Amino acid sequence: MAVSRALETLFELRKPQPKTRKVLVAGVSSKRSLGLAIGEHMHQSGWETVLTTRRPERLALVAPHHEVRHLDYPDDMSAIDDLSDLTGMVFCLAKTDIADKDSGLLGVSEENFLKTISTSCYSFIALVREVQRRNPNLRSVVALTFLGGERVVPGYEVLGVAKAALEHSVRALASELGHENVRVNGVSAGAVPTTSSRVLPDFRRVHEALSRQSFLRRGVTAEEVAGATAYLLSEQSGGTTGEILQVNGGLRHTVL
Ligand SMILES: NC(=O)c1ccc[n+]([C@@H]2O[C@H](COP(=O)([O-])OP(=O)(O)OC[C@H]3O[C@@H](n4cnc5c(N)ncnc54)[C@H](OP(=O)(O)O)[C@@H]3O)[C@@H](O)[C@H]2O)c1
Repeated sequence: MAVSRALETLFELRKPQPKTRKVLVAGVSSKRSLGLAIGEHMHQSGWETVLTTRRPERLALVAPHHEVRHLDYPDDMSAIDDLSDLTGMVFCLAKTDIADKDSGLLGVSEENFLKTISTSCYSFIALVREVQRRNPNLRSVVALTFLGGERVVPGYEVLGVAKAALEHSVRALASELGHENVRVNGVSAGAVPTTSSRVLPDFRRVHEALSRQSFLRRGVTAEEVAGATAYLLSEQSGGTTGEILQVNGGLRHTVL
């Protein structure tokens, strides 16, 4: 009996329940960003929020409810240096050089390939490592991804490779951090018009085609993506890790 109580106590010590709920949302640019919709949702749910961006002055104008910090990977990661009370983190960084946009995967330069993977995938691993090291109460990490990491979506080639790598990184980090009581999941969002999605070649045509094909016969909203992310950040999804939650109206299962 005494032994089982001691084990229970030890188990509880290894799993301290955080009092504050605070999330870092990395990669927010404008009022259209999915990261801002996620930040707003978490703020309305009573969480403290820190948003990172490469243009803090501009973002602060449209994000008055949030602490805004500068983060430019890999040159400036100082935004996370003094953060030690995070319970959640959301990864929204993605970038590719659209100069290669009409060339398919065969025409992508090695330089753009490596830069795309570095910004859109490796930075996730680097951020999780640094955030987890500083934040003993970190419980949940969510990365935003797209079906183009699993299926061939015209115009998304090199980003698709990066998203495939990102999705496997979600599973690998979930495996590595599970014993630390940190869950790692992804949200695969349907196409939503944002600053970066609009610059992708043929975004409008792809958006319309995907919306028509989905079971719901419509695109999804930034708020729906934010709601799914909030679920994965919360304890309601406490048994879920290493998963990619599809928020795309059933697109993953459609043929026509
Ligand atoms: N919108 C969609 O249809 C859709 C669908 C599925 C998944 N997603 C994913 O959702 C996430 C958010 O995308 P979004 O559509 O909301 O577009 P977004 O607002 O442009 O978000 C992407 C963010 O990544 C930042 N970023 C790029 N390179 C960076 C670097 N080196 N260091 C720091 N930050 C950097 C961008 O900053 P700058 O603006 O300064 O470049 C921007 O804030 C992305 O991972 C995207 O792939 C989007």
